[in-house]
Amino acid sequence: MSSTTDIPTQDLHVAIIMDGNGRWATAKSLARLKGHAKGADRVRDIVDAAMDMEISHLTLFAFSTENWKRSEGEVLGLMALFRRFIRSEAAKLFSRGVKVRFIGSRDRLDQSLISLMEGLETQTADNDKLYLTIGLNYGGRDEIARTAKKLAQMVKSGEIEPDDIDIDAFAGQLDTNGLPDPDLVIRTSGEYRTSNFLPWQSVYAEYVFEDTTWPDFDNHLFAKTLEEFKGRNRRFGAVSSK
Ligand code: FPP
Repeated sequence: MSSTTDIPTQDLHVAIIMDGNGRWATAKSLARLKGHAKGADRVRDIVDAAMDMEISHLTLFAFSTENWKRSEGEVLGLMALFRRFIRSEAAKLFSRGVKVRFIGSRDRLDQSLISLMEGLETQTADNDKLYLTIGLNYGGRDEIARTAKKLAQMVKSGEIEPDDIDIDAFAGQLDTNGLPDPDLVIRTSGEYRTSNFLPWQSVYAEYVFEDTTWPDFDNHLFAKTLEEFKGRNRRFGAVSSK
C-alpha cells in the first residue's frame, strides 16, 4: 500500500464528528440550540469546501443513538433543524451534484423527517460529485447489531449459508454498504473519543482531534487538517515504504 502523500484529495473519504455546538453557545451565553444552528451553517460551508477541494466522500455525524438522552427541548430543536436544513439545502445540493445518503436507524424518527430524508435521497440518487453521508440516529454498535440480525434472517430464509458470512458480506449489509472506508476522521472540540462513530469502517482511518468547537471550525482549519492527514504515513498493517 502507498502512503497518503500519493492520494489525491479527490479520492478521499473524510468523516467528521461535529462536536462542541453546546459549548460554543454556552461560552457566548446563548441557548444550546443557537450553537446547533451555527453548527448547521458550518455544515453548509464544509460541504462547499469539500466540493471545492473535489473530495469525493464526506460523512457527518449529526445525531447519535445516544443523543436521545438530551432534554426534550434540545432533541425537538435538533429534529426541527434537520428538517429546516433539508428543506433549505435540497435544491442546491441537487444542482451541485451532491448525492445524499442518511445512515442510522429510522425507527425513532418522526415521519415528516423520514419523508424529507427519503425525498432528498431520491432526488440526489443519480448525482456523483460528492457523496454526502449524514449519520442521523446513527450508532456504530446499533448498525452492527442490525446487520447481524439482517444476516441471521437471510440465513433463516435460506438466502445465504452461515459460511457465506465473511467481512465483505457483513460490510455489504451495513448502512454504509458501497461506500469506501473513511481515510480521515476529524473530531472537533478537544475530546479524544470516537463515540460510536463508524467503528467497523474506521479501523484503518487516521484521526485528527481539533480543539476548536464545530461552529468555529472554518474552511481554513479544514484545509489545515487535511494537510496534517496528508503528511501521515499509512501502512494498513504493512511495512512503511517511507
Ligand atoms: C455535538 O455538539 C453536536 C450535535 C449533537 C449535533 C450536531 C448537529 C449539527 C452540527 C447541526 C446540524 C447538522 C446537520 C447535518 C444539518 P454538542 O451539543 O455535543 O456540544 P457540547 O459537547 O459542547 O455540548
